[in-house]
Amino acid sequence: MDAADVQDDLVNVLFTEEQIHARLKELAAQIEADYEGQDLLIVGVLRGAVMVMADLARSFGRHLEMDWMAVTSYGSGTKSSGVVRILKDLDTDISGRHVVIVDEIIDTGLTLSWLTSNLASRSPASVEICTLLRKPEALTMPVDVKYVGWDIPNEFVVGYGLDYRERYRNLRDIGTLAPHVYS
Ligand code: IMP
Ligand code: MG
Repeated sequence: MDAADVQDDLVNVLFTEEQIHARLKELAAQIEADYEGQDLLIVGVLRGAVMVMADLARSFGRHLEMDWMAVTSYGSGTKSSGVVRILKDLDTDISGRHVVIVDEIIDTGLTLSWLTSNLASRSPASVEICTLLRKPEALTMPVDVKYVGWDIPNEFVVGYGLDYRERYRNLRDIGTLAPHVYS
């Protein structure tokens, strides 16, 4: 879907598909330079990071491996429940490997701070985080993020993998959800 398909549900479009693709190319180039000559595994956090992983991975001009984890820290609404659970673990043994966790958004930081220490306990060579979006005002946990697409205001956004009650993930752009949709 395009923003025009869900026009009344959005306050504004924050980032267009073109802007997102361009930014992901820059991030991929940065990561590629940082891991030159090293083996690299990128780990996508299901389900929100599916689009970011697909476009980021294809922006690389080198080999890498992809794996996935599913965790949950949210109910079906717009606020974190504060509890993280693994729903699907990695299929890969990451000991001795360079790992970059790829996520679409850092809100409170709870999910990624938990996930980073979880993966760090498996003796990888390194663990870094790449996120398309981050809400600095919402952060309640310290998270050391190496690669950030954009910092955004503390508003609920949808599209490009980001959902509200499992909808809007297939929106090409990223927009701010209008309060009338969830109030
Ligand atoms: P955190 O643990 O609070 O950092 O939340 C991380 C997860 O919450 C993300 O991976 C998203 O699935 C979800 N989330 C946080 N903010 C938003 C938002 O604005 N729109 C959609 N999902 C969000
Ligand atoms: Mg979500």
